[in-house]
Amino acid sequence: RGVEKNVGKEIKKRGYKKVLIHYGGGSIKKAGIFDTVIKSLNDEGISWVELGGVEPNPKIGLIREGIKLCQNENVDFILAVGGGSVIDSAKSIGLGLAHNRDPWDMIINRIAPEKSFPVGVVLTLAAAGSEMSNSHVVTNPEGKLKRSLNHDLLRPVFAFMNPELTYTVSKFQTGCGIVDIMMHTLERYFTKDQDTDLIDRISEGLLVAVKEAGKVAIKEPDNYEARATLMWASSLSHNGLTGTGKNAFFPVHKMEHEVSGMFDHVAHGAGLSVLFPAWAKYVYKYHIDKFCRFAVNVWNVEMNFEHPEYTALEGIHRMEEYFKSIDMPVTFKELGIGEDSFEEMADKCTNGGKDPLKSYIDLGKEEIIEIFKMAVGN
Ligand code: NZQ
Ligand code: ZN
Repeated sequence: RGVEKNVGKEIKKRGYKKVLIHYGGGSIKKAGIFDTVIKSLNDEGISWVELGGVEPNPKIGLIREGIKLCQNENVDFILAVGGGSVIDSAKSIGLGLAHNRDPWDMIINRIAPEKSFPVGVVLTLAAAGSEMSNSHVVTNPEGKLKRSLNHDLLRPVFAFMNPELTYTVSKFQTGCGIVDIMMHTLERYFTKDQDTDLIDRISEGLLVAVKEAGKVAIKEPDNYEARATLMWASSLSHNGLTGTGKNAFFPVHKMEHEVSGMFDHVAHGAGLSVLFPAWAKYVYKYHIDKFCRFAVNVWNVEMNFEHPEYTALEGIHRMEEYFKSIDMPVTFKELGIGEDSFEEMADKCTNGGKDPLKSYIDLGKEEIIEIFKMAVGN
């Protein structure tokens, strides 16, 4: 509680002198968080400039503007105050500054960072996990491409996390966050790797905690315990812990990035809640034991030893019902997306069919279109 008041002290301790405060569409000003942060910086004699306007699914245009601003103002530290989009935008500005190079060029050509520019976070939304992740995701409206670049040098140097700052998050964004947090663990849980029992149990514990806290946070937005569970889970789900000893390929995320890249109105979590059940129904038969374990340990399904596929499918069904219960979409129809876009999204997702997505089986264009079709809705 109240930890954001110390952000100025932390930055001073680290020796930085000029800060870019980076934020989104104004929720932090409305909630008074901006005032708290500037007071904390002013109290320590740290100068600052601001750049707001980060949109959900952050765009490369504002990132380029941010790089110029930081160069002109001799900024030596970026403070992201917001959710995943703001943090990712800040990471990208830092990437450009550290390498004196256009970050989109680095993302699209998969150029590994060699240096880092310090980014700190005051988190206002429990969802993407960017506050501790090595990842960042940027959208280029030219070509409607949404792409990520991952590297340890992209992890923020600190994250200040006060669950109270998330009390004002809308029901819809809270739902998107719940789905995304679960998904970051599930993409690591459902892999072919063996001998990972401890990590699988940690993952199941996280999923059960998020499921329960999610229900409470949706009903009682100012429930500290529920918001704190979601906030801590946001970080633990995507900082690498639940992927220890695993090779995770994130197929559902890769499909979703095409959806929200092409359709800017789609929030990342809403795209995931549509795609995960369809992907799971398509691949469960390749790892039936794991899908049964998930059904039993996370969704309290009774094991049917005679017909394990019933157990596996019931687990997926209960997850889908849970998404519906927190008002998240589970069909493309609810997102306002028709079948006419499936071919293009599948094409982009597989680099024109050349690079199938890795999953239990390779997912080429045809398989991805099949998965999309399973999520059409009536
Ligand atoms: O822009 P403002 O006005 O701040 O409003 C935001 C925005 O409209 C609002 N919000 C944030 N904190 C609030 C608040 N509203 C009221 N009270 C508060 N305290 O929430 C809306 C959504 O914000 P956004 O940052 O877009 O959401 P999220 O944190 O879910 O981030 C989504 C982005 O992160 C990417 C996604 O693809 C998407 O672009 N991801 C980033 C990852 C990473 N870097 O590791 C991993 C994820 O898988 C994900 O792909
Ligand atoms: Zn995600």
